[in-house]
Amino acid sequence: MINVPKGTKDMLPAESYKWQKVEATAHKIAKLYNAKQIRTPVFESAELYLRSVGESSDIVSKEMYVFEDKGGRRMALRPEGTAGVVRSYIENNLGETLPLKTYYIESIYRYEQPQAGRYREHFQFGTEYFGSPLPEFDVEVISMAHDFLREMGFENLAVKINSIGCPTCRKEYNKALREFLAKNADRLCGDCKRRAETNPLRALDCKVPSCQEIHKTAPKISDYLCDDCKAHHASVMHGLEKIGIKYENDDKLVRGLDYYTRTVFEFNDGGLALMGGGRYDSLCEELGGKPTPCVGFGCGIERLLAAADARGISFKKDSPDVFVAAQCDAVRGECTRIVKELRRAGISAETDLMGKSLKAQFKYADRQGYKYVITLGENELNSGVYGMKRMSDGQTNEIHGSDVAKDVGRILWQK
Ligand code: HAM
Repeated sequence: MINVPKGTKDMLPAESYKWQKVEATAHKIAKLYNAKQIRTPVFESAELYLRSVGESSDIVSKEMYVFEDKGGRRMALRPEGTAGVVRSYIENNLGETLPLKTYYIESIYRYEQPQAGRYREHFQFGTEYFGSPLPEFDVEVISMAHDFLREMGFENLAVKINSIGCPTCRKEYNKALREFLAKNADRLCGDCKRRAETNPLRALDCKVPSCQEIHKTAPKISDYLCDDCKAHHASVMHGLEKIGIKYENDDKLVRGLDYYTRTVFEFNDGGLALMGGGRYDSLCEELGGKPTPCVGFGCGIERLLAAADARGISFKKDSPDVFVAAQCDAVRGECTRIVKELRRAGISAETDLMGKSLKAQFKYADRQGYKYVITLGENELNSGVYGMKRMSDGQTNEIHGSDVAKDVGRILWQK
């Protein structure tokens, strides 16, 4: 017996309506914002992630699935969605008309220790906006995330936001943080000591509890922001207030990816981040494109569904319309013709393919949630008039074999 790989899950047919609800909502909200879908490969050159997410991040240094292809190239399964979209933006010259608003629904791979809400394969609905340095850009991306979560049934979620500054103010902050880490070096883990040298901000992501205690007293980036970054952050908060989005200014929020500048944000529920994102004004240039200010977010679909379950948010299951039951083998051909006509008319329909008894066909139709069942025997075949039973209350209507789709449609859509 071969099992599903550790840290991955099958999406089973009985659960698919939940995923379809998430995806339909993502498409709907993105359309309201005039964002266009983008799809990039599931693997890219590993270097793309080293240069964007950052060599010292956990995602790249510990969790990335890296492999050599048969041509000897170092490739990686995407450990996040932003870098691939930015690569595509540059390669396909997508910046001719700005702003460009993109979104994606895709699988992400991280070699993590599997636990609730943490998988080795997960799916994200994400957006990447290209082109504007204005705070309204940040506000619109946060607004899209907020509308998506609200449409999924999450009322009143507050967004946690922070500013992690620009390369200018980061320099001063890094100096202060490095001094702090050096002072506490004898109580810090090896990773923190290493990061103090290479990328001090990443030390703050450390998951070792004793390091986390020490980091609580570390200098805060908010005390080092330059005037422009401070003004930008204030305008983002003001913009959120203007459209009624609750926020919590959290000066410890730094996020675990290196490409962010200025705004970072997260929506949390039950202690886990459902969604995270931020501004990344230098990434396009660092990957060889023209300087282009950008903002985006990524929302974990598994976490979203688990949080919806925990809050008792349920999604509507669509019931199929008509099951056509065969009383004997002689009518099977006519049953097939009827379902073909109904499907052509946009009515979901099914007939027995298993040779079940009439009783078993009714049981199946009931279990599948069919709204109506048409039963065909030899008498019905000869008269051309069939009975269609409403499953909820047993009420029966006459259907004419010669005009089956029209008759069924009239009954189905009369309300
Ligand atoms: P991230 O915070 O690493 O950001 O991931 C985004 C979301 O994906 C998280 O908030 C969480 O819901 C979900 N997630 C992350 N890791 C896992 C996992 N192992 N298992 C299940 N769900 C997970 C990014 O990936 C950025 N690319 C977001 C972004 C887009 N920033 C700007 N644009």
